Amino acid sequence: MTKMKNGFPEGFLWGGATAANQVEGAYDLDGKGLTTADMVRFIPKEKRKNGHALDVTKAEIDAILAGQETDIRFPKREGIDFYHHYKEDIALFAEMGFKTFRLSIAWSRIFPNGDDKEPNEAGLAFYDAVFDELLKYGIEPLVTLSHYETPLNLTLKYNGWADRRVIGFFTKYAETVFKRYQDKVKYWLTFNEINIIAISPYTGGGVLTEDAKNKLELSFQAGHHQFVASALATKLAHEIIPDVKVGCMLARMATYPATNNPDDILLAQSINQQNLFFTDVQARGEYPSYMERFFSDHDITIQKEVGDDEILKEHTVDFISFSYYMSLSASANPAGQTAGGNFMGGVKNEYLETSDWGWQIDPKGLRYTLNDFYTRYELPLFIVENGLGAYDTVTADGKIHDDYRIDYLRKHIEQMREAIADGVDLMGYTSWGPIDLISASTSEMSKRYGFIYVDKEDDGSGTLKRSKKDSFDWYKKVIASNGADLD
Ligand code: BG6
Repeated sequence: MTKMKNGFPEGFLWGGATAANQVEGAYDLDGKGLTTADMVRFIPKEKRKNGHALDVTKAEIDAILAGQETDIRFPKREGIDFYHHYKEDIALFAEMGFKTFRLSIAWSRIFPNGDDKEPNEAGLAFYDAVFDELLKYGIEPLVTLSHYETPLNLTLKYNGWADRRVIGFFTKYAETVFKRYQDKVKYWLTFNEINIIAISPYTGGGVLTEDAKNKLELSFQAGHHQFVASALATKLAHEIIPDVKVGCMLARMATYPATNNPDDILLAQSINQQNLFFTDVQARGEYPSYMERFFSDHDITIQKEVGDDEILKEHTVDFISFSYYMSLSASANPAGQTAGGNFMGGVKNEYLETSDWGWQIDPKGLRYTLNDFYTRYELPLFIVENGLGAYDTVTADGKIHDDYRIDYLRKHIEQMREAIADGVDLMGYTSWGPIDLISASTSEMSKRYGFIYVDKEDDGSGTLKRSKKDSFDWYKKVIASNGADLD
């Protein structure tokens, strides 16, 4: 009998994940250019469309740049001021025993306008300092090249990733940082949640769609440019950095059929295909045949250049990374209650509880997702985002008793252990927002994911003081025991 694997492999990469535009602040310091994220305003809950506050129109950008909108806040410009607190924050990650820390580089710190001839030395020096600080503690940096921010100039001049020329600007940026950090960074991700380009093109690729005849076509075209850019960046990383590992990154939203009605089953299959299409291209190196039907049903023609297919085929990723917060359910005849999500919702699954933001909590769905991915690609997997966004309360003695967060994480880690026993090759786990940060979908500060509390409110007030929540010591124990002690 074969012995079942038990527990997490040696060298498992435990840690946490952030994004530049949600933590750094200092949006206009040391030569950084404006980005699409810097244009995202705080919008109160009752005024949000689709539950989120992500998309910005050209007219809104023009008004902001002309200084016509003055009584509004832009939380992603401020973040939690990681730019000036990174030493303190990294020391806390080290105290928890982090093996890795996922962060993104703000492209516009390196190339302020995206299409500049020369990089900005101050921006390069900032990330040198951050990586050095991580390496000082033996923490492996895991770096995303593009996490929900495009240099604003590329949006205004080229309509972001809708324009093929942006591929060249991106590969120049990638080459610059690969060369600069080749001795410091071995793990890279190209585009965060690359599938979001089809759902929120502004967020995923700085694409404005108000004037588009076929918005979906424009979004998938921008997605094609990102596929090619990602493959070319993968090629460059393999050439420049010894022992490098490059991953793709998907917002995986496993969708169940709401019932065993064949209509529900077909619908769920199709939704899952639309989601997995992105990893299919990046891991298998070609557009899957099921997309032909989808493209024809939606009048989409993708403009490819000669050589694109070869680039995709020859430079596939080394591993698959993904975010997992919830599962969704699909019904061909939706009626009754719906459930939320950061970009997409579905019908309510009566077997699952929901978070304060209505996201369905489904730890077993993570085991399902891991097995599903591994069966499909047989490539190493990396969970680079998972966690619970919740309201925290600071008690009179300054403590934060976040047992709900511990419970969420424990249940998900248990299912990771199950999946490893099922035979899945899992490289690591970086929980989302190990330190409280600005929410991507709502720009709220009160939606907290951290083991570390940051004293800052939705209105921007607060001292920025960092303090440990109960989950801090719990996660420290999890890492020290390599996932054996989850109590
Ligand atoms: C993912 C993003 O979609 O979900 C992160 O990659 C984001 O940037 C995370 O923060 C959680 O979503 P939210 O909206 O709660 O911040």
